[in-house]
Amino acid sequence: MRILVLGGGGREHAIVTSLLASAHAPEVICSPGNGGTAETAANVSIPDADPAYVVEWVQNHGADFVVIGPEAPLVVGTADLLSAYGVPVFGPKAAGAEIEGSKTFAKDLMDRHGIPTGRYFVAESEMEARAYLADHGAPVVVKADGLAAGKGVTVAMTVDEAVSAAHECFDGKFGAAGELVLIEEYLEGPECSLLAFTDGETVLPMLTAQDHKRALDNDEGPNTGGMGVYAPVPTVDDETLTKMVSILEQTVAALKAEGVIYRGVLYGGFILTAEGPKVLEYNARFGDPETQVLLPLLETDLVDVMLATVEGRLSEIELRWREGYAVSVVLASEGYPGDYETGKVITGIGKAEAVEGVTVYHAGTKREDNGTVVTSGGRVLNVTAVAPTFADARDRAYRAVDMISFEGMHYRTDIGLRALRALGEA
Ligand code: GLY
Repeated sequence: MRILVLGGGGREHAIVTSLLASAHAPEVICSPGNGGTAETAANVSIPDADPAYVVEWVQNHGADFVVIGPEAPLVVGTADLLSAYGVPVFGPKAAGAEIEGSKTFAKDLMDRHGIPTGRYFVAESEMEARAYLADHGAPVVVKADGLAAGKGVTVAMTVDEAVSAAHECFDGKFGAAGELVLIEEYLEGPECSLLAFTDGETVLPMLTAQDHKRALDNDEGPNTGGMGVYAPVPTVDDETLTKMVSILEQTVAALKAEGVIYRGVLYGGFILTAEGPKVLEYNARFGDPETQVLLPLLETDLVDVMLATVEGRLSEIELRWREGYAVSVVLASEGYPGDYETGKVITGIGKAEAVEGVTVYHAGTKREDNGTVVTSGGRVLNVTAVAPTFADARDRAYRAVDMISFEGMHYRTDIGLRALRALGEA
């Protein structure tokens, strides 16, 4: 079996690692991949902005199925074109990926189907945004409608901040993604991610996961792609989990009712309010860094799960999970999420992986011809540890972090600390 994985982050290294552990013993190719996938799979470079190149590559080189990691190739219809050429593909078609590609589409869908989410207003011009804000005040959340690489969201505590965030969108800071602007109710509560495999009918939830989006300890500093994560979230009770699962089921059913058979991973970004969980956003793919803690805990063969998803047989699958917890700490380049330098030599990965339960997933890394691994991105490595208790998983992850170094390396020291305190283990 030959599988092509599109993407080159920590998420894709985790996917590749789990696919390679499958009983199907597949050959895995990753495009563009990173220094980690270069070691275990084969890296190739297919321009994925145009789905035609992906189809051409598959026609020339062959693949039994394709896994699409990031949102951008999903939104431009890579799954549609591959399917049209008879290539099985894990990841929704463009009509389904719109749930991430257009925040307005997602909000309108939730509105039509009574799915719990914050109130919202869609502004088509700066004037409309100003008028709405003058009437409704702050705090609010201002979002560019389209894909903005995680950067088009501002939590505005004052009307002035909100007006200036809307101005940036309409002024072209996020290109076409900012042509519509969503102004959303500011909701209070802890955030929590719940991802599910779905074939458009059956919804198989994964474990809850908690991302840490801010760059610095104590949730300070700018937003990032995610600086660390753990799973499952020990503070989420059964009643809340049941509600989150039911919201994902409702979402898949809502899409189906509107003619969209959604196959792949549906990622629910939730906020756990006093009134119950509400949807903050959806993603049409595995989360990054959530995947780096979910897949190490998944016992069921990932190839079986993905094939069943693609073939509409997910009702035949039972997801089994390892007992215990996974904690992952992101090691980032100095300056990230702003400008940063690359090409810094990384040492200690082997030693870190010798710590019991630890896997180091590469993100922004490159393997030089002489085998040296150097930094090539903002988020560089995900140091993930699995252990029977939360405290041990966290302890192992940070022990492994201590063994790795590169010039300018920075990371948060409080990943999972709140959960640890809630568990009384701190
Ligand atoms: N963890 C956030 C995301 O995957 O978008």
